[in-house]
Amino acid sequence: MNPELRRALEQGLRRVPGMNAATKLLAVRLETVKALLARRLDENPLPVPDAVTPSDIPSVAELGPGDRVLAELDQDGFAFAIHPADVPFFNRRSEKMPRLRYRLHVVLRRGYVCVRKRFIGQPRNAPPGAHLSALLGLFFYNEAAALLRLRDLPSVPRIRDLHLTTRTLFVDYVRGQTLQHQVAERGQKVLDIDLAPLGQLFDPERDRREIEAFASGGGEAYSGRIEEIVRAMNARGVAPLDVKLGNVLIGEKTGALYWVDFERAALEGTPRYREQLAEHHDLVNRWFGLSLPGDGQA
Ligand SMILES: Nc1ncnc2c1ncn2[C@@H]1O[C@H](COP(=O)(O)OP(=O)(O)O)[C@@H](O)[C@H]1O
Ligand SMILES: [Mg+2]
Repeated sequence: MNPELRRALEQGLRRVPGMNAATKLLAVRLETVKALLARRLDENPLPVPDAVTPSDIPSVAELGPGDRVLAELDQDGFAFAIHPADVPFFNRRSEKMPRLRYRLHVVLRRGYVCVRKRFIGQPRNAPPGAHLSALLGLFFYNEAAALLRLRDLPSVPRIRDLHLTTRTLFVDYVRGQTLQHQVAERGQKVLDIDLAPLGQLFDPERDRREIEAFASGGGEAYSGRIEEIVRAMNARGVAPLDVKLGNVLIGEKTGALYWVDFERAALEGTPRYREQLAEHHDLVNRWFGLSLPGDGQA
């Protein structure tokens, strides 16, 4: 097609409501299905250093390493073990806050300890667009495509398997606190369980308070490592837009940092990537005191 005509057509299509989302959905579905057809998931890369292995799980000594559910993750990412022997292993707290979206479990699956993320359901009060995107699988395919692009990075837990029909992802389980847990441990009110009763769960000031709490607790010590991870993800065409302390894990064994949660990541090759990359940089700059090229500088 004549390049000018193509450009005009693309610009016209971009003005049709929902066209960017529809184009992205098509792109991430194709990318995921292509990876499955190329048997990328059969490659079995070594887990990242802080990934848990079946022999680390206390109940395996008694029940063996066969497939089963080990624990349920709650809204703040605390893990509630099923078997009593596993309770001390997981970071259970006294009260469980049910998750607002998606069920998350730690499972044993084919010899790996994985987080099982099932992309079914949005909270009832979610905007209609979020319901539609969830229904069509946009978040599921987006996270799958992103994790497949990042599968060789030492700082992202590896995707082990995915189920298209049940929209389920299996990702290596990394044991450790999130940066959010660490801030909360120092007494700052940043967890959903603390904020929900105060009506601050969706408070626009919430991010600012989280950022300040992190910075005042010496968060800048992590800046260099976060910048490295961000650059490595960007080099693979992934720019997470869900930037927050709860999406960065500190591995318990090595102290290395891991980035999780890619359902809303911008992906190179899909509409508006350049703009979203600048938006992602603005977010990581704000959270972690970096100075990556953001809006107007890119
Ligand atoms: N691979 C993983 N290893 C260990 N914990 C994880 C992993 N993935 C997610 N978690 C925990 O579960 C929480 C929620 O997972 P996430 O993918 O961020 O879902 P959500 O979209 O609901 O934020 C994280 O904040 C983290 O505490
Ligand atoms: Mg998250």
